[in-house]
Amino acid sequence: MNHIFDTDKAIYPFPAKPAPLSEDEKAFYCAKIKKLLKKKNAVLVAHYYTDPEIQALVEETGGCVADSLEMARFGNCHPASTLLVAGVRFMGETAKILNPEKRVFMPTLNAECSLDLGCPADEFSAFCNNHPDRTVVVYANTSAAVKARADWVVTSSIALELIEYLDSRGEKIIWAPDRHLGRYIQKKSGADMLCWQAACIVHDEFKIQGLIQMKTLHPNAAILVHPESPEAVIEMADAVGSTSQLIQAAKTLPQKKLIVATDRGIFYKMQQACPDKALYVAPTAGEGATCKVCAHCPWMAMNGFKAIAEGLEQGGLMHEICIDDTLRQQALVPLNRMLDFANRLKLPTSENA
Ligand code: 13P
Ligand code: SF4
Repeated sequence: MNHIFDTDKAIYPFPAKPAPLSEDEKAFYCAKIKKLLKKKNAVLVAHYYTDPEIQALVEETGGCVADSLEMARFGNCHPASTLLVAGVRFMGETAKILNPEKRVFMPTLNAECSLDLGCPADEFSAFCNNHPDRTVVVYANTSAAVKARADWVVTSSIALELIEYLDSRGEKIIWAPDRHLGRYIQKKSGADMLCWQAACIVHDEFKIQGLIQMKTLHPNAAILVHPESPEAVIEMADAVGSTSQLIQAAKTLPQKKLIVATDRGIFYKMQQACPDKALYVAPTAGEGATCKVCAHCPWMAMNGFKAIAEGLEQGGLMHEICIDDTLRQQALVPLNRMLDFANRLKLPTSENA
């Protein structure tokens, strides 16, 4: 029996889109950010889903644009004393848990994730208590408190390998929070998994009917899908994987047209990786449906130039990640297990992919 979290009925506090900046304003904030990075001995770390102009600034200033696993690894290896994490809150929290000696700022602490919101720590902990014989594996897209309750943290780039490993040791698993990723891994591994039923509001919107129509229009296109997408969409895929794995697949697949079912922020790095290919966003509005977020995470979109400059300049309650030390040490255990496991797998990093 799965734990039912009714994602379809959940109401998320979608943020307002940041006000668009003029070219002069953008230049002003970029110059300011560059100065502040030097002054504060800081470096920018951003997810592939942030807006292209943000990713370009991160590259220009020697920061890191990556998937959630690599973002977590980066802070550990970089000498800067301050990390400015452009992403959603769980990414900033992960950076702080792994780097307590560093200050971790975010453009806004209100950048949520529907998976994190869909898995409240008290409910989840009660659920785990009802199944004490199961190993608790949680996705990185969760709060520090949920991580603290887990045996393992995992990102989508190593989730299947980890579950196969635990299954080979005869362990029964609780998986949380993403229902589509959980079902995908369960089907692939055959493991005994009890899955929490939250969903990503971005990937949940990809529509099979629209995808079939698009494939008819572009029969030679390859379909690339993030495993937080619905089952029928995953079944159409030529490649299924985390954001970094999808960029890698875009490079290596022979097709010149790619239909991509993940946040369109990824197009910036994907197009760099294969400049000769045409990229199409997978449809989010099938027949009779309307998209609310339309393949761009509204919380990732909060990471604008102005907010980054304010985060670096002001810190404080609005921008700095602070985690109670006892909770941090509890959450560190499953996070370190994830990093050790990833190191043993010797996954490519964005530098050597
Ligand atoms: P990745 O771990 O693939 O970067 O995904 C993070 C995420 O938030 C997907 O929606
Ligand atoms: Fe969360 Fe989905 Fe946004 Fe990723 S894209 S941060 S899973 S809401």
